[in-house]
Amino acid sequence: MFDLSQHHDLIDHLQQVTQPIQTAKGLPNPFYVDPEATLFEQKRLLLDGWACIGFGHDVARPGALHPTELAGVPLLMVRDRDGNLQVFHNVCQHRGVTLVESPTTCRGLIRCPYHSWTYGLDGQLKATPMVGGAGRHRHPCINTAKLGLVPVTSGEWRDLVFVNVSGDGGDFADFTAPLAERWVDFNSVDLHHGGADSSFQLTLQTNWKLAVENYCESYHLPWIHPGLNSYSRIEDHYHIEGQEVISGQGTRVYRQIEGAQGQSFPSVPNLPAKWHRGAEYVALFPNVLSGVHKDHMYHILLTPLGPTQTIERVEIYYFDARATTAEFAELRQQNAALWRGVFIEDVNVVERMQRGRASPGFDGGTFSPVMDPPTHDFHKWVAERLLTGL
Ligand code: FES
Ligand SMILES: [Fe+2]
Repeated sequence: MFDLSQHHDLIDHLQQVTQPIQTAKGLPNPFYVDPEATLFEQKRLLLDGWACIGFGHDVARPGALHPTELAGVPLLMVRDRDGNLQVFHNVCQHRGVTLVESPTTCRGLIRCPYHSWTYGLDGQLKATPMVGGAGRHRHPCINTAKLGLVPVTSGEWRDLVFVNVSGDGGDFADFTAPLAERWVDFNSVDLHHGGADSSFQLTLQTNWKLAVENYCESYHLPWIHPGLNSYSRIEDHYHIEGQEVISGQGTRVYRQIEGAQGQSFPSVPNLPAKWHRGAEYVALFPNVLSGVHKDHMYHILLTPLGPTQTIERVEIYYFDARATTAEFAELRQQNAALWRGVFIEDVNVVERMQRGRASPGFDGGTFSPVMDPPTHDFHKWVAERLLTGL
């Protein structure tokens, strides 16, 4: 088991990451390539605080079950009959089989496939067939009241489902407050998911942190996104920096997409002038990337699969229900294709940053004090979290 306190070279390096950007180094390579160091890191960053595991619309209907995994821990999202969402450890209390392997909807009972122990949507153990022998479904040693599914602390905000597996992440409202306050103009506006045409995922051969780091910065825009840069140039962007759990960038020249007849998505009425031509792109640490515009927003959920592979799940939402009707189907597809194209443009560089982290010729790198503060904010957050308790 990896013990950071035994790695003085890494501790020294992480302390350098927390320095002011002018003298700071980037995070050390082992947290991108070494299986033990990255497992330690994922546990610390994803399990010891709040992290995202899925979307409310994954479990839209009562009885919906959605299994997922975070830092190797199998979890189960459940929607109960009253519409409440709960997350449990996805593991049977008998012999430890995972209960649900793929998304499904049940009729109120979750049955283990191994010996048929059966749980309610509230996690209570309801049935233990033949636990006392043939025809005996009870046994004095099996206290069903104490053998329910193990709940995980969870919270839902703007269709994002977060968990705090260790239970040490503090208050959920405090965790979401920095982004909720920043985007307060949109908070009371309902989100309408665009449906099947507004959902896609990419599998990246890179460490999950590099996807965050790349998302935070606008420095790469001219070279990686020449299409976007043709109207939203680097000088039209500003940094979102110096805050606790968010960093990113904004543009002052967001342009709505238009259909063949010049139609566009309905915008939120009466927004402050900032949003008329502005948009913002923010990473909510650790693993959510979001973008907001006057007519739509999106979330990207990053799920690490080991040190060098990451799933990026993209979900697009509209602020006006009309945008989700058939009338806008073509425009929604066009919008999803546009974002997909932009995110695919980033794949090459995030995968090459990953390959570069196997190089003894790279030792964390150097930040531009002008262009990289949002990226440094994330590195600093990671380093401080890893150093906690040392
Ligand atoms: S492992 Fe689930 S019932 Fe036996
Ligand atoms: Fe990019």
